[in-house]
Amino acid sequence: MSKQPIGIFDSGIGGLTVVNKLRMLLPHEHIIYVGDTKRNPYGSRTPEEILSYTRDILRFMTQQQVKLVAIGCNTVTATAYPIVRREVPYPLIGMSRGMYTAQKISTTKTVVVFATELTIANHSHRKEALRIDPQLTVIEQSCPLLAGLIERGHLQDQAIINPIREYVKPILNTMADTAIFGCTHFPFVQELFEAFSYDRLAFIDPAHEMALETLNVLKQKKLVNTDDKQGSLRLYFTAEAQRGGRLASHLIPANEFTICQLSL
Ligand code: DGL
Repeated sequence: MSKQPIGIFDSGIGGLTVVNKLRMLLPHEHIIYVGDTKRNPYGSRTPEEILSYTRDILRFMTQQQVKLVAIGCNTVTATAYPIVRREVPYPLIGMSRGMYTAQKISTTKTVVVFATELTIANHSHRKEALRIDPQLTVIEQSCPLLAGLIERGHLQDQAIINPIREYVKPILNTMADTAIFGCTHFPFVQELFEAFSYDRLAFIDPAHEMALETLNVLKQKKLVNTDDKQGSLRLYFTAEAQRGGRLASHLIPANEFTICQLSL
């Protein structure tokens, strides 16, 4: 069983930020990734739609005989995860919120979360903060345009610069000293977030916490792959697989993955 792949999925390329961190920590694991590029972005869809898409992807993961699935998507974690977590025969891990890291580094105890509309509407980061440290203040900033733009390859141009500037600006008038990427797409444009925050915010990519949590679950369940060769990485996209591959190569060398088209 430990030789079976790990499944990771997202509405598109965002969850690759999790794949990237996971491969650093667990280089021998085989990974199957699904990016639902046909139905992206998820952040402006209804919770019912997301539940149905999540079930489609988990069905595929079950057919692939994965040993565990890590959800590389905050929007799915905030909506469908509590419902589907007991529907599958393998461990299913929801996207980390990054709140443990934020709690450690914020001196003002004020943290901003940049996320999709649906994740913000769900207040999932605020709920997590209340659970781990009621002293933390969480400022919620919805960024409805970003995931779709990043998905279409706008990583540096004016189309993405303007909304990022607008989303960050009001935060500079608050006590926030720490920012969490509450959408897995956003680390693709971390440099722009940093540029418009003028060194006032320390940015946290929760993919790191997520990779550690995945490692812990694998250890607990005795599912760590102990092979000594590099694990394979297969990227499935439900539309425009070549574009997905091109964007993936911003994070992961192109000769380290294969790309496949998937219809769900
Ligand atoms: N990357 C996903 C998230 O973390 C989804 C973004 C979207 O499709 O709107 O929320």
